[in-house]
Amino acid sequence: MTRTRRVTIRDVAVRAGVSVATVSRVLGGDYPVLPATRNKVMRAVRELDYVPNAHARALSASLPGAVAIVVNSVAVPYYAYIAQGVEEQAALEGRLSLICTTGGDTGRELAIMQMMREQRAEAVILVGSVIVDEEYRQRMAEYAHSLDAAGSRLVLCGRPPLGEGVPALVVGFDNTGGAYAVTAHLLSAGHRRILYLGLRPGHSTSDSRVAGYRRALADYGVPADPALEVKADFSRESGYAALSRRLAEGPPDFTAIFAGNDLVAAGAIQALREHGLRVPDDISIVGYDDVPPAADLGLTTVHLPHDELGRAAVRLALAREPAGPITLGTHIVVRDSVRPVTP
Ligand code: HPA
Repeated sequence: MTRTRRVTIRDVAVRAGVSVATVSRVLGGDYPVLPATRNKVMRAVRELDYVPNAHARALSASLPGAVAIVVNSVAVPYYAYIAQGVEEQAALEGRLSLICTTGGDTGRELAIMQMMREQRAEAVILVGSVIVDEEYRQRMAEYAHSLDAAGSRLVLCGRPPLGEGVPALVVGFDNTGGAYAVTAHLLSAGHRRILYLGLRPGHSTSDSRVAGYRRALADYGVPADPALEVKADFSRESGYAALSRRLAEGPPDFTAIFAGNDLVAAGAIQALREHGLRVPDDISIVGYDDVPPAADLGLTTVHLPHDELGRAAVRLALAREPAGPITLGTHIVVRDSVRPVTP
């Protein structure tokens, strides 16, 4: 078997009867070239099926940089849907998008940030809720300054802003407003004992959801009961385990559940079922995010504009202008998991 030699820029130049520099100018698109010359070069490129060397072009800085999105996992719907928005907008803007996962490991995150600098990514979008402490703020500020020095931009998506002087862009959504609305929906149906399943003190997304829950209770004159705020992280397994433990202690002392996200709600529904409790006849439940399997479970939840979050993050980064934080709206989607309380 013979292997054909890779076609080089020199072959294109010979075929078109021009210099290598002229081919480079045509492909780079950054110098004026006579139309007749451009046509000759492009015909040679087509005939030889020439693929420019991406590394060489990136070094000449004529190639637009990629847009990178960094998430914990692509198997979690929340991240997958935001990544979809990033990918769509990046494609519209002629950019390649790179999806990187950290598994929540900060060492891996740092390695990705360094690689993205070397790759001259035009923007790096970090997605997902975090524990906001001093270590986190410092780490993000370092990323932001380091990317800025390399002509790239850091975008925080679904995370709180870092404060003045840090060159990071921020796009988020109204977490607290959504939590308020969905809690008010339960309160309007007469529920007074509402279990919040998903407490994670210090965790940005969870804290803002709990804040909306507490504010709605206060507005309806319902005293907050710390015994009704139960710890769980944002996974199905965690929702299942936390509610199973609670139900094992005795009959439910609540009539409704506000799950921290839809995955937690899915786990909670399984736990309810295993304890012979029906949704919504015995216990009402709502979730957050509006991702699968919310629709299949008939779950009333808060819709997040995932796609638009991803798109806005890319637009913000490529606009190359300083911009204040963007907050997108949320709204509740009423399905069939809430019943009015009957006296
Ligand atoms: N992980 C999973 N689901 C979520 C998150 C998150 O960080 N934020 C909102 N829903």
